[in-house]
Amino acid sequence: MNRIPEPELMVQPEQIEAYAKADFEEPHSNFIKIFKEKFSDQNIQGMVLDLGCGPGDITFRFAEAFPNTKIHAIDGSSEMINYANIFLSEKPNYQKRIQFVSSRIEEYETDKNHDFIISNSLLHHLPDPMVLWDSVNNLGFETTKVFIMDLLRPESLDEVRMLVEIYAKDEPDILKRDFHRSLLSAFSLSEVEKQIEIAKLDLKVKQVSDRHLIVYGSI
Ligand SMILES: C[S@@+](CC[C@H](N)C(=O)[O-])C[C@H]1O[C@@H](n2cnc3c(N)ncnc32)[C@H](O)[C@@H]1O
Repeated sequence: MNRIPEPELMVQPEQIEAYAKADFEEPHSNFIKIFKEKFSDQNIQGMVLDLGCGPGDITFRFAEAFPNTKIHAIDGSSEMINYANIFLSEKPNYQKRIQFVSSRIEEYETDKNHDFIISNSLLHHLPDPMVLWDSVNNLGFETTKVFIMDLLRPESLDEVRMLVEIYAKDEPDILKRDFHRSLLSAFSLSEVEKQIEIAKLDLKVKQVSDRHLIVYGSI
């Protein structure tokens, strides 16, 4: 099944509200769990860059799991960043450790040496996936560790419908619509492997569930 890209930035107010209020406990706690498994030999501390952070659910979970980190979290949608900052204003414990920044990843400039670059569910939003891998190359240093999770494109429309039914059955219609679109917009394992090869990144690509893949390792 060919890829059908979805709109890149999430900017519609009702779409953002539904996404910000959604319960992502299962996939997002899995993000942290698998991160811990993959970097079990590392001391997780220092500066972290979260690319395409949305309303910040992964950012907050990461900050909670790893108290010796500071996180710069960026998103190209200022509406999403507004939401993330509202959540941050309700969590005083994180205000010295998390900074949300409104910027497209390809326009973000920093002189910080980030120890980790993380990202969840950004890749499938990009019309050109190389934007993510170029950003990893540009923003990372030799010692930077990378952990990226994203959706996998199913092989058929029937499989897309089945996954929406299994994982978004009780969600509002707008979330079901977006999940359907996101699955169609996602990349296959072999497409991501090809992207990593073109970007000359020394990262591993692995399927970790019926709908997710990860890309991880040292740059
Ligand atoms: C599906 S959301 C994921 C949000 C968050 N990482 C999470 O897991 O909940 C994808 C986010 O990527 C953002 N995005 C898309 N293209 C971007 C770009 N070029 N630069 C920065 N953010 C981008 C969208 O605005 C949206 O908030």
